[in-house]
Amino acid sequence: MTSSLRRPLITGLMLATMVLSQDCGRRVVFTDRGASSNYYNCSGHVDGDMWKYLAWYNGTTTVTLTGGPASECPDTTWQPLKNSFLIGGMTVPGNPSLDRRVYDNNTFYFEIPSKDNDNITVSFQSSSDEWYDEPQGWQINATKKGDGYDLAGTWIGTLPDNNELDFPGVPGDDCWDGGPYYLGMKGYDNMKWVLAGHVSPTAAEISIVETNVDRDGGVWHIYTNFTGKAGPKGPKLVTTGDAPTTDAKA
Ligand SMILES: *[C@@H]1O[C@H](CO)[C@@H](O)[C@H](O)[C@H]1NC(C)=O
Ligand SMILES: *[C@@H]1O[C@H](CO)[C@@H](O)[C@H](O)[C@H]1NC(C)=O
Ligand SMILES: *[C@@H]1O[C@H](CO)[C@@H](O)[C@H](O)[C@H]1NC(C)=O
Ligand SMILES: *[C@@H]1O[C@H](CO)[C@@H](O)[C@H](O)[C@H]1NC(C)=O
Ligand SMILES: *[C@@H]1O[C@H](CO)[C@@H](O)[C@H](O)[C@H]1NC(C)=O
Ligand SMILES: *[C@@H]1O[C@H](CO)[C@@H](O)[C@H](O)[C@H]1NC(C)=O
Repeated sequence: MTSSLRRPLITGLMLATMVLSQDCGRRVVFTDRGASSNYYNCSGHVDGDMWKYLAWYNGTTTVTLTGGPASECPDTTWQPLKNSFLIGGMTVPGNPSLDRRVYDNNTFYFEIPSKDNDNITVSFQSSSDEWYDEPQGWQINATKKGDGYDLAGTWIGTLPDNNELDFPGVPGDDCWDGGPYYLGMKGYDNMKWVLAGHVSPTAAEISIVETNVDRDGGVWHIYTNFTGKAGPKGPKLVTTGDAPTTDAKA
């Protein structure tokens, strides 16, 4: 049993290079199959300014590796991470300068801000105008269901950004070497990332699943599962429209 996928010998490295004042730098990800880079601005203007209009859900993320023959690589779940899921609309009523649609063709926005514990680092974001080679990484849909929306999405990006998953790996010849994985990093396009979940004004359950099939037909997954509750303060999810947005109230 051999699989290049199960032993992805990855060296992750971030290089921040000051280039020009309006051209803040670039992030380069080196892997065993090459390097890829994405240029970023000093700060995402629209993204940063719309932060305060997002609905927050605080909770827990677990990262679990499953699949293949358990004798070779037993399923592993790391110490859960306390973190947050944020969601919001594409525009802010009454503020025409705050409009994500210039760089993002989705109908809503989500983010799991970067957070780590001793075991895992988790960071996901559907788009950001901080990245100007490729602002949009996810294609996401919302469907009205019950008390909120069912969410579904596919990673469509090709460049590394702040969509990152890091875990220590599982020792063993036919097992995982661990991260970091930057979604879209060169040479790893056989890793398929999808998102599914449900969000309501009170709770969010989000599952981001990476799937690959090894040469022997074994199916392997990395599950990044978040579950959380809406805070008592801050913007609240609004469920009247076709897509999620918030009341944009503090
Ligand atoms: C970087 O941001 C500045 C200020 O928002 C903007 O004027 C400039 O066009 C951006 N640069 C790129 C390459 O997107
Ligand atoms: C999580 O990190 C702690 C501290 O580094 C370590 O002792 C523990 O073995 C790790 N747990 C797992 C499941 O990797
Ligand atoms: C916009 O959406 C389509 C799918 O409907 C996708 O193929 C395309 O890449 C998206 N555009 C950008 C800029 O991401
Ligand atoms: C999102 O909707 C588009 C258009 O209906 C569809 O092509 C795409 O497969 C959907 N994506 C997911 C992950 O459901
Ligand atoms: C993650 O969540 C999905 C969707 O609810 C579920 O099917 C899957 O079993 C969960 N995985 C783990 C390892 O908890
Ligand atoms: C959610 O977590 C963030 C970051 O830790 C914190 O600032 C905020 O107060 C929390 N909100 C609630 C309602 O607990």
